Amino acid sequence: MQALTWQGKRSVSVEEVPDPVIQEPTDAIVKITSTAICGSDLHLYEVLGPYMHKGDVIGHEPMGVVVEVGSAVTNLAIGDRVVIPFNISCGNCFMCNMGLQSQCETTQVKEKGSGASLFGFSELYGSVPGGQAEYLRVPHADYGPIKVGSELPDQRYLFLSDILPTAWQGVKYADVPKGGTLAVMGLGPVGQFASRIGRHLGLRVIAVDPVAERRAMAERHGVETLDFSRDVAEELRSMTQGRGADSVVDAVGMEAHDSPVASFMQHAAGLLPDKLAQKTFESAGVDRLSALHTALDAVRRGGTVSLSGVYGGEASPMPLMSMFDKQIQLRMGQCNVRRWTEDLLPLVEDDADPLGVMDLVTHEASLSEAPAMYEMFQKKQDGCIKVVLKP
Ligand SMILES: NC(=O)c1ccc[n+]([C@@H]2O[C@H](COP(=O)([O-])OP(=O)(O)OC[C@H]3O[C@@H](n4cnc5c(N)ncnc54)[C@H](O)[C@@H]3O)[C@@H](O)[C@H]2O)c1
Ligand SMILES: [Zn+2]
Ligand SMILES: [Zn+2]
Repeated sequence: MQALTWQGKRSVSVEEVPDPVIQEPTDAIVKITSTAICGSDLHLYEVLGPYMHKGDVIGHEPMGVVVEVGSAVTNLAIGDRVVIPFNISCGNCFMCNMGLQSQCETTQVKEKGSGASLFGFSELYGSVPGGQAEYLRVPHADYGPIKVGSELPDQRYLFLSDILPTAWQGVKYADVPKGGTLAVMGLGPVGQFASRIGRHLGLRVIAVDPVAERRAMAERHGVETLDFSRDVAEELRSMTQGRGADSVVDAVGMEAHDSPVASFMQHAAGLLPDKLAQKTFESAGVDRLSALHTALDAVRRGGTVSLSGVYGGEASPMPLMSMFDKQIQLRMGQCNVRRWTEDLLPLVEDDADPLGVMDLVTHEASLSEAPAMYEMFQKKQDGCIKVVLKP
């Protein structure tokens, strides 16, 4: 089959690779009909290179049709239409039972000290082949796949795989008081949905992004926006009686713009041999923290900061004195995708499209065009906000 593979820093290519086969009785094979590119894929493309291997198949936002099931899979049949969550979880361990599917104890990558295995996400998360491919092997298919109806187009359901539950969890964790103000850092796909979910829940939402068309998209959904060229925290305070936002969702993560020094360190780490680069990445504070630090500055005293954006680096400097003094609550983590399915399914199936799932994709392309799409998405060219590939 054809699949998108990682080849090196900022280099991906479509290659012929072996078709996936059933390996465990709980596996299924899914023929992919739509598969999106995520901001997390950009981390693999850029800073997480030391954890990738040439030829790794990327992609973790797929949906499609079941073409084969293992002998122990009783809830799926050939022909079922399914969305595949990006985390691989068993559904019956201690963590899964607590709704912490991204920490699943059955699929945790213990050698790396990481949480649940993820599709297409480097050796840190189990080196499981991903879904930007014609076919995908789905482990624990008796639990993960979300069965959906056949009437509505893929785009209505596709984002249940990752960014919609990620944004939902980000807003839930932000714990905004009724009628309060939510600030959202970043208006990529995750920030777009976090902002719209905030509006859907009746909150005032102020979102920050340097890219004009991303702000314009958010404004179409009733979101107030700020460019980050000015002092964002100061501006947010001036819009909220001098206090700051009740809660802030950081939907940017470790590749925030605007920190040349950290950016140089990260780039330098990316050029070292893998083992050395992994050490540098893990032991140094190589993250670009500008969005996180703005979030901590912009939240009001006693407020909550919720990180949806992914961070790495074990020694990243944090302003603990002001965090303690301001009494900030801080929550974060990989999304527990299956935890939120029942909340979100009715919203994506609602013809009024309350979260605007039909207003996000700017580019649809074939799998063979994926390398060009990665470059366009990373550079934010041609108004690119979300790409869906059609293998
Ligand atoms: N927690 C999870 O389970 C989970 C799931 C999906 C994605 N993510 C993470 O969420 C983050 C966003 O993903 P995305 O798909 O929306 O990616 P994206 O790269 O399209 O979005 C990031 C946005 O942040 C903006 N930005 C950059 N620096 C900024 C700054 N200093 N202040 C404000 N905005 C800034 C960029 O212009 C861009 O629009 C990534 O870190 C991704 O890895 C996490
Ligand atoms: Zn993703
Ligand atoms: Zn589990």
